[in-house]
Amino acid sequence: MIFDTHAHYDDSAFDEDRDELLNSMSGYGIGTIVTIGADMKTSAAAVALTGRYSFVYGAVGVHPSETAGLSERDMEQLKEYAALPKIVAIGEIGLDYHYPDTDREVQQSWFVRQLALAREVRLPVVIHSRDAAEDTMRIMKEQRCEEIGGVVHCFSYSKELALQYVDMGFYIGVGGVVTFKNAKKLVEVVQAVPLDRIVLETDAPYLSPEPERGRRNHSGRLALVADRIAELRGVTAQELIRITEENARRLYRMKAGQKVEKSKIFQSSI
Ligand code: NI
Repeated sequence: MIFDTHAHYDDSAFDEDRDELLNSMSGYGIGTIVTIGADMKTSAAAVALTGRYSFVYGAVGVHPSETAGLSERDMEQLKEYAALPKIVAIGEIGLDYHYPDTDREVQQSWFVRQLALAREVRLPVVIHSRDAAEDTMRIMKEQRCEEIGGVVHCFSYSKELALQYVDMGFYIGVGGVVTFKNAKKLVEVVQAVPLDRIVLETDAPYLSPEPERGRRNHSGRLALVADRIAELRGVTAQELIRITEENARRLYRMKAGQKVEKSKIFQSSI
């Protein structure tokens, strides 16, 4: 079944129908979703969502644009979340130079700090990198990220850089953008990266694929992305879905058919 490696189901865009939507996911062929934290509040929300749905897992971390004002106490909190059985990654973390609102040095220092956290708790990382290709790669090399592992989500750089990340042992997250008419660069990436390193993601509620572009996105639309990647790689959609699901389980180090006892989740108070 389809594995959505990156979504934001805490988002207020889902406030009106979150339960209804998530309960309908198996009807869309969705087997697993990882809901991703982007600050302290949404990391807590991701933890809470993993307790409500058996097929929803979580990542906790602070997005570069939200790093101003972070403290070591926050890192302690993330570390506690990371110990929970359904938290499978630290993220999303990284660098975002697109908007000038968060100081680059502040972003870099919390990126380094959260990479250290991932190393400490032995979880892979979910990397967000926008308009910051060089600094992201430099820091990841300095921090020996090949020993940490993870995914570069919503990959937006060149195929050459994608292959460098693959060499570091990273996966490449591909979502709705690959269906857009102006997706030339991402199409090249999808054709260049080994098939066993591509994972599907929505970034829901953002980046809805064609022909739903501009609308609220949700995991049920991932079949449109799978169809496009399958076409680009000359495999069937079914095959593409099977391979990317295996990739996602390897990325997040989940065993096939892994079930987590609910009691374990609720013991840890949120
Ligand atoms: Ni995201």
